Amino acid sequence: MDAVDASSHGVPLARLIDLGSRSAIVTGGAMGIGLGIARRLSEAGANVLIADINEQAAEQAAAELEALRPGTAIAAQVDVADGASVERMIATAVGAFGAVDILVNNAGIYPMLTLADLDADTFRHVLEVNLLGLFLCTRAGAAQMVLQGRGGRIVNVTSIDALHPSSVGLSHYDASKHGAWGFTKNVALELAKEGIVVNAVAPGGIITPGTGVSDRETLDAFAAMIPMGRMGEPDDIGRTVLFLASDLASYMTGTQIVVDGGRLLA
Ligand code: NAI
Repeated sequence: MDAVDASSHGVPLARLIDLGSRSAIVTGGAMGIGLGIARRLSEAGANVLIADINEQAAEQAAAELEALRPGTAIAAQVDVADGASVERMIATAVGAFGAVDILVNNAGIYPMLTLADLDADTFRHVLEVNLLGLFLCTRAGAAQMVLQGRGGRIVNVTSIDALHPSSVGLSHYDASKHGAWGFTKNVALELAKEGIVVNAVAPGGIITPGTGVSDRETLDAFAAMIPMGRMGEPDDIGRTVLFLASDLASYMTGTQIVVDGGRLLA
């Protein structure tokens, strides 16, 4: 990771966005937003570990990246809510690529349930994947980055629900995502001295398998709530994460970028 100093204004743009020789992990990278992120990081030259609980989908996603850039993508099964599984994920990345320079904490779940239907097990599970998982991956990833001694970049995929509820039925999710944003800021404060920057991207209204929205009528209804007049694509988030993972973002830590087509304004 290049140390950024005041004299770096002369660095050519192409080099600022070049992730060649860097190694990245994208959790939940097998589909949806995570795959959109993995595609852009790979295109920018990074080695990418697709880490997902769905092993088959992860293998498929890694094969797609491999076909474009042989020898630069692998898959691993991980449950981000399981500490031992997360440790194995880090070891797999180090074994394959020699390092972890970029960690994208994207894995997350959002079952829609109103309070009356929300039981303690579901509440706990959502918190375990979205918040405990974020902690376990960040702790293990940061420890590896500290060991390497050349800094690193952590990008957490939160949500507009980290700031404001998007709909009824997501109280558990909003608790987890508000927590993820608070966690992001505190960890950014702690890790800055190690040269590790920690930022968040807060998507809203992105078409993914998880949202289960595919028919034209529902898409149009969602799009009508968005000032920019369309649902987001995983690549809208991929572009933003690429920015934060690259040396284009030279002086940012503990921030959250909202990528929602203006939805929060409406
Ligand atoms: P998705 O359901 O389409 O994809 C999520 C991926 O995470 C899947 O491949 C799944 O297998 C994996 N995953 C789930 N649990 C896991 C676990 N315990 N360990 C490892 N991998 C696991 O979801 P989508 O929509 O792409 O969401 C990705 C992230 O973006 C989530 O954190 C979500 O909260 C956030 N987000 C999504 C928005 C949207 O509109 N789609 C809006 C705001 C935030």
